[in-house]
Amino acid sequence: MTRILKPTPDGIAQAADLLRDGKLVAFGTETVYGLGANATSDTAVARIFAAKNRPRFNPLINHFPDAEAAFAQVEVNDLARRLADRFWPGPLTLVLPRGPNATICDLAAAGLPTLALRVPRGETARALLSAVGLPIAAPSANPSGRVSPSDAYHVLRGLEGRIEAILDSGPCSVGVESTVLDLSRPTPVLLRPGGITLEQLSDICGTVRHADDYASKRPIAPGLMASHYAPSLPVRLNAEHVGPDEALLAFGPPLPGSKLTWNLSEHGDLEEAAARLFSGLRFLDSEGERRGLSGIAAMTVPRHGLGLAILDRLRRAAAPRPPVSGDDDDLADALG
Ligand code: TXA
Ligand code: MG
Repeated sequence: MTRILKPTPDGIAQAADLLRDGKLVAFGTETVYGLGANATSDTAVARIFAAKNRPRFNPLINHFPDAEAAFAQVEVNDLARRLADRFWPGPLTLVLPRGPNATICDLAAAGLPTLALRVPRGETARALLSAVGLPIAAPSANPSGRVSPSDAYHVLRGLEGRIEAILDSGPCSVGVESTVLDLSRPTPVLLRPGGITLEQLSDICGTVRHADDYASKRPIAPGLMASHYAPSLPVRLNAEHVGPDEALLAFGPPLPGSKLTWNLSEHGDLEEAAARLFSGLRFLDSEGERRGLSGIAAMTVPRHGLGLAILDRLRRAAAPRPPVSGDDDDLADALG
């Protein structure tokens, strides 16, 4: 059952408790309704991908009540501060290098060395974010491949029964997603046009490059960045045995003979596997290299539910170059 909560102090407090408890709560922002989860928990974030039925682990936007809380996660620069002064709270998302004190989990960042930050404008959204006291990862609250929701009823129609609650703050005023601007490079790059226009940005930034200058029409993330977060050890897919100098990424009962194993889920639970994927790759890569191993053998996972997103990610890890481009949902392509 999905509960509808009113935007009252009590409703907001209930929504905050659920989020702190690792549950999914959709909430209204000035752009669209977001499907929120505790961004510091791989397990909670895995639930977002499961509920949306998303075939890929795209990096998510992390929401904060104010700039101070947001910037505590990253290496902030001058331009970011000026943009935040001008446009936050509001429909602008800034991408910056992850900072030493960041608490955002690997799955929310899709393993990238950068984080996307946003301070939304809605009163209710900000009250909720203050009450939770944690960064909240929130993609649009619709099943993958469907239209973004701009009121609570849209959310309910798409996700009823799949999420704990909806904090109903009425219709969204902007109706399109936030502008995503990458400030982690020498020149700012527009990754996604949205609620703040290029003209508005240029006033403060000067030159802004388009993601198209770098690649196809799609944002640089996540496809183009595949090589950034690919492990340095080669990954071998669909492993049915483990070589003497290989580490094993297991799913379910592990293959025999491995000296270094990370089990995504001993019981074959896809949500647990998704939550443990990026930390597992990171671990096997660094520990495998330290021990002089030459590769990672990855067992396969079932081709349904979150299994599709896990396989997509493993394929990228196995063959990260040349860059993959494409739409969020072009599953057939991704799986070949
Ligand atoms: O208006 C919005 O931004 C809505 C509301 C709910 O706040 N949220 C939203 O979130 O659209 P999401 O997670 O669906 O947006 C993801 C976008 C993608 O284009 C993704 O590639 C980009 O943000 N993104 C996230 N982290 C990134 C990163 N580290 N580097 C580059 N792009 C990133
Ligand atoms: Mg969306």
